[in-house]
Amino acid sequence: MPTHKRKILVTSALPYANGPIHLGHLVEYIQTDIWSRFQKMRGHDCHYVCADDAHGTPIMLHAEKRGITPEQLIKEISLEHQRDFAAFAIDFDCYYSTHSDENRELAETIYRRLNEADHITKRDVEQAYDPEKEMFLPDRFVKGECPKCHTPDQYGDSCESCGATYSPTELINPVSAVSGATPITRSSEHHFFKLENFAEMLRDWIKQGHVQEEMANKLSEWLEGELRDWDISRDAPYFGFEIPDAPGKYFYVWLDAPVGYMASFKKLCATKGLDFDEYWGKDSKTELYHFIGKDIVYFHALFWPAMLEGAGFRKPSGIFTHGFLTINGEKMSKSRGTFIKASTYIDHLNPEYLRYYFAAKLGNSVTDLDLNFDDFTSRVNSDLVGKVVNIASRCAGFIKKRFDGKLSANIDQPDLLAELVDAGDSIAESYEKRDYNRAMRDIMALADRANQYIDQKQPWVIAKEEGKDQELHQVCSMGINLFRILVTYLKPVLPVTVEKSEAFLNIPTLSWEDRKQPLTDHTINKFKPLMTRVDPASIEAIVEAEQRALGVRLAAELGAPGAKTTPVTKTTKQNKKGSQVEDDNTISFDDFAKVDLRIARITKAEHIEGADKLLQLTLDLGEMGSRNVFAGIKSAYQPEDLQGKLTVMVANLAPRKMRFGISEGMVLAAGPGGEDLWILEPHDGAQPGMKVK
Ligand code: 2FM
Ligand code: ZN
Repeated sequence: MPTHKRKILVTSALPYANGPIHLGHLVEYIQTDIWSRFQKMRGHDCHYVCADDAHGTPIMLHAEKRGITPEQLIKEISLEHQRDFAAFAIDFDCYYSTHSDENRELAETIYRRLNEADHITKRDVEQAYDPEKEMFLPDRFVKGECPKCHTPDQYGDSCESCGATYSPTELINPVSAVSGATPITRSSEHHFFKLENFAEMLRDWIKQGHVQEEMANKLSEWLEGELRDWDISRDAPYFGFEIPDAPGKYFYVWLDAPVGYMASFKKLCATKGLDFDEYWGKDSKTELYHFIGKDIVYFHALFWPAMLEGAGFRKPSGIFTHGFLTINGEKMSKSRGTFIKASTYIDHLNPEYLRYYFAAKLGNSVTDLDLNFDDFTSRVNSDLVGKVVNIASRCAGFIKKRFDGKLSANIDQPDLLAELVDAGDSIAESYEKRDYNRAMRDIMALADRANQYIDQKQPWVIAKEEGKDQELHQVCSMGINLFRILVTYLKPVLPVTVEKSEAFLNIPTLSWEDRKQPLTDHTINKFKPLMTRVDPASIEAIVEAEQRALGVRLAAELGAPGAKTTPVTKTTKQNKKGSQVEDDNTISFDDFAKVDLRIARITKAEHIEGADKLLQLTLDLGEMGSRNVFAGIKSAYQPEDLQGKLTVMVANLAPRKMRFGISEGMVLAAGPGGEDLWILEPHDGAQPGMKVK
């Protein structure tokens, strides 16, 4: 038992109720879950809460597009999220929703207290407004030409091509992404939180070790100048909570999202009889930690502590920030099939492989984490299967067959056992500090020690020798005891495998302290394989499944009948000699009419590593968005010659999976081939997206 029983509340960021959980999300949930499970194993009172982040314009519009209410949408997504989390053994004590009574009450309380203490102000704001849809448009819902580099089809807040940031009113030829109408500028009154009132408090708080050092440096930079008021209201129509005494005004989703941490805990209090105020009261002695990604530090380390302080609640003890996930060294990409949904992963691989891999790579810094598939395969296979599980499988059979499942009465090498037991203190320290990579390294070094012991003793040789029964018994029992200590250390990371190990060892659920008491004179159960090797074909299957799903999605968006190319109708015609031949080359007028030829601007042209004939083109179709196309024109063009040119493309060709990704259309070119191949170049007056007649 730990000398002091801590009371800890832990959270992960609340995922938007707007889409599926993917591997990028899972870094954080796995990181938090390991920490929470570790604390529980140490005997502390640790509560891990989370919820769906259910409010905001994207969710409202998504529901509308699906023809359902936002309430229906968030219910459906919540079930999907919870199913995926459960599959990855993410063990929340409460998983709730920000669209709950508890959250409404808490958000209102916080707002009222801030208002009473003069931390809220109101003023008019000019914003893009969709006159057709009759709604204000968030920046991401206005699209147009970048005012700096003139790339078309850019979002209202920043340009993906040149990186410029601006306001939607600066976009050239802006359109509403909701209705296609030209937005107008309209003014309305907004509510603001006066963050500057908390500047001094935040400057001190940042220095007190509540955030990692690299974050403290970043935050101090932000805190140097005057802090701008934070706009916390949005106008109807909006899916969220109406602001008290302000009809038609709603809390901005980011106002009530972190309050969702409190609401989820409040829900837990009701079911578990916990005291809400003990955890959230101003002078709380309990610990509160938020695990978050580096993109939402501003909200958690500035707005959130300020809101809590202003409303008379406690502030977090720590904000633990992690970096982003890259896959094979690159950003997750839908067309490369590396934007992997949790549900796709589950169909092909054991979730505990990923838990282990992330643990092996996660430290307590904010650096990005790379999932490299080859590394993933070899680590899981050599560490978990080759080192850990192997110990049990090498010893268990002899114990069962030769000793009736019973372990020896004493330990063969107490010093070696003590070495493993003693290492538990520093491994615990690494878990506590979220240096999981270090913990995994240390555990695997111990597994090496255990394997060396077995290799030296060679139980499979002793087993064949006369009169060595006792030695065989001692060695295999020692091996099982070493295995038991290793799985104790791995339990926060591999809860399911360790649960199976507990069943095999015939012991109650392991706590961190249990390692100190060896298993002697104890009967174990039959050993069943605990984990199998990663089959690289499963990884390929995951990537392919994601690419297939993208193809089907794009086909649906393009209005094409499916992911297959539209077949050409077979017709017959007379040949010169008068006989009828089947001719695959003619199509009916109706078929021709189906081909959607459009003007496209080549916004980007790039070489593709390993491709002899293809160039990768990014084609802008105006309001129809942009397309990725692989075109066989490398023999005739240098990429830089193509950039900015207009061309004609088949815009409704069903996406095709090619070696280098998905091709979402086809550009038209003519000529005998080789260098003599010319893309069609329409007159300059043509505009991207125009239909070719
Ligand atoms: O960035 C996001 O995905 C947000 N839904 C996180 C919210 S965390 C907390 F503040 F609710
Ligand atoms: Zn630009």
